Amino acid sequence: MNITVRVWRQANAEAKGHMASYQVADVSEEMSFLEMLDMLNEQLTHAGEDPIAFDHDCREGICGACGVVINGIAHGPQQTTTCQLHMRSFDDGAVIDVEPWRAGAFPVIKDLVVDRSAFDRIIQAGGFVSAPTGTAPDAHAAPVDKDKADRAFDAATCIGCGACVAACPNGSGMLFTAAKITHLAMLPQGQPERYRRVKSMVAQHDEEGFGSCTNIGECTAVCPKEIPLDTIGQLNRDLVSSLFRSAGK
Ligand code: SF4
Ligand code: FES
Repeated sequence: MNITVRVWRQANAEAKGHMASYQVADVSEEMSFLEMLDMLNEQLTHAGEDPIAFDHDCREGICGACGVVINGIAHGPQQTTTCQLHMRSFDDGAVIDVEPWRAGAFPVIKDLVVDRSAFDRIIQAGGFVSAPTGTAPDAHAAPVDKDKADRAFDAATCIGCGACVAACPNGSGMLFTAAKITHLAMLPQGQPERYRRVKSMVAQHDEEGFGSCTNIGECTAVCPKEIPLDTIGQLNRDLVSSLFRSAGK
């Protein structure tokens, strides 16, 4: 395949960015999208130009580092992570636009790399349990209903990629926050801090400059882990319950 890639180039957080156009020849349709960017970067390096900065780590859909907006869609056309998107999803001769996440709470660091540390601070505000967990317990030592175990597991698959924020017209981080809340709210270990957790994480979410959720649903439509919108309902129910509890509970 021969393709044209138009990429957002921005030297640093303060610099003004622009779209730059590159031709990439002999792209295999079996390549991942990131391998295509690697190939383009080799081309740029050989030409003495600055390679394109982009985030990645596991390249197998589990670390959440690799998100970019491809042709206007967070992670591109397949509802998977950018590292698991393959070039066979594009036509020979395609023109592909690649941009960083666009959200006030995720400032651009360079080119396609954004600062997602706001998510870390939301987790620090409450996304943990204080119960001593020790070594792995025997199965069924603490019985959990199958429905709740499944729901906790599904919510726990959130990889913190930030596609939900990039897709949301409000720049909201509610799907991410709700996934963490739901995961812990379904499990016995999550109960001691359950209501303090939701207040604290939502307050941190707002402090970081994420927008409010208005139930548009773009977040779940691009989420590579298909975190459902009803986790936000769970968050809202727990948040309302927390208001009827005495401080600190
Ligand atoms: S909810 Fe989905 S889109 Fe949002 S951070 Fe988690 S995995 Fe990524
Ligand atoms: S590089 Fe880890 S999810 Fe894509």
